[in-house]
Amino acid sequence: MDKKICIITGANSGIGKAAASQIVLEGYHVILACRNQERGEKALQEILAETGSNSVDLMIVDMSLQSSIQAFSTAFLTKYETLNVLIHNAAAFDVTNKKPIFTSEGVESIWATNHLGPVLLTNLLMEGIKRSDQGRIITISSKGLIVYPFLRVDLEDPEFRQRKFSVSKAYYQSKLAQVMYTYWLANELRDTPNTVNCIRVANVKIDINSRYPNTSKISKFMYSIKSRSSISPEEMAETYTYLATSEDMKETSGKYFDDPAHIVSSSKYSMSKENIDAVMELTMNYFQKTQVDNNGETGGEMGL
Ligand SMILES: NC(=O)c1ccc[n+]([C@@H]2O[C@H](COP(=O)([O-])OP(=O)(O)OC[C@H]3O[C@@H](n4cnc5c(N)ncnc54)[C@H](OP(=O)(O)O)[C@@H]3O)[C@@H](O)[C@H]2O)c1
Repeated sequence: MDKKICIITGANSGIGKAAASQIVLEGYHVILACRNQERGEKALQEILAETGSNSVDLMIVDMSLQSSIQAFSTAFLTKYETLNVLIHNAAAFDVTNKKPIFTSEGVESIWATNHLGPVLLTNLLMEGIKRSDQGRIITISSKGLIVYPFLRVDLEDPEFRQRKFSVSKAYYQSKLAQVMYTYWLANELRDTPNTVNCIRVANVKIDINSRYPNTSKISKFMYSIKSRSSISPEEMAETYTYLATSEDMKETSGKYFDDPAHIVSSSKYSMSKENIDAVMELTMNYFQKTQVDNNGETGGEMGL
């Protein structure tokens, strides 16, 4: 493959889909990494038509399941070998959830999809990233974290097994963990040409009726008011595209972006090395516990 290769998770809708079109038009071969074949196919056909390019592929992955992420990574590395850009766009945030939903692997689904999944996917694809001249990893957080300046990752109960569940708290905890993971990974990659940066996504208009049909009428009404100040997925995707493709971004790593022109700070808590190490120790324990080899022994530490 002579083109650079970019994976975007959750690229069948919203910002991920808009970014996929933009990055195809920048001359990349883009893999739409989606969990649903039908929705993925529909997006694939729309992107093919919109860009007039055939440099788009659909591969299936459920980012909430480690087994699915492993199968996806193996299939990707077999087919493509090299990875230039990995964008962790997929996320779960269904405001109608009143209690935690646990995956078939027994992990709370927001924590699994939004934080554990990206960490595992990066790790399993690292050999492909290392084969590129300059690999880029882009994590996605939320500007809404500004409203929670004192939020912590609950090291004792990240999955809301003991404390009262709140979908917002679960979502923002996972997005905070992604910011901290970005800083940690940038440090791990410091002596390599590979980079990792995080984007804090602003208030972006989503199609609430098709995305979350069970949302109550009042919530839909509130959302319609809130979305008057929203930007479009295409506008937000421009930051994804800039970080993924711009020559100016070759040497920038470990930063938190608002838009291409603005590097911002995250909370004091999220920048502390001690806190970052604690969150990453918690994170890695999930993989040590669940990555059991064929002899029934637990796997070793995830190596980058
Ligand atoms: N919109 C905003 O205002 C806003 C604000 C802050 C941050 N963000 C972040 O921006 C990113 C993109 O969001 P968006 O606004 O474009 O929303 P969206 O249209 O709902 O996109 C989310 C995507 O993630 C996919 N996804 C969810 N769970 C998945 C799983 N287990 N495995 C694989 N894919 C999965 C969805 O696929 P399905 O179609 O299969 O559900 C969908 O394609 C997310 O990380 C979100 O947290 C958005």
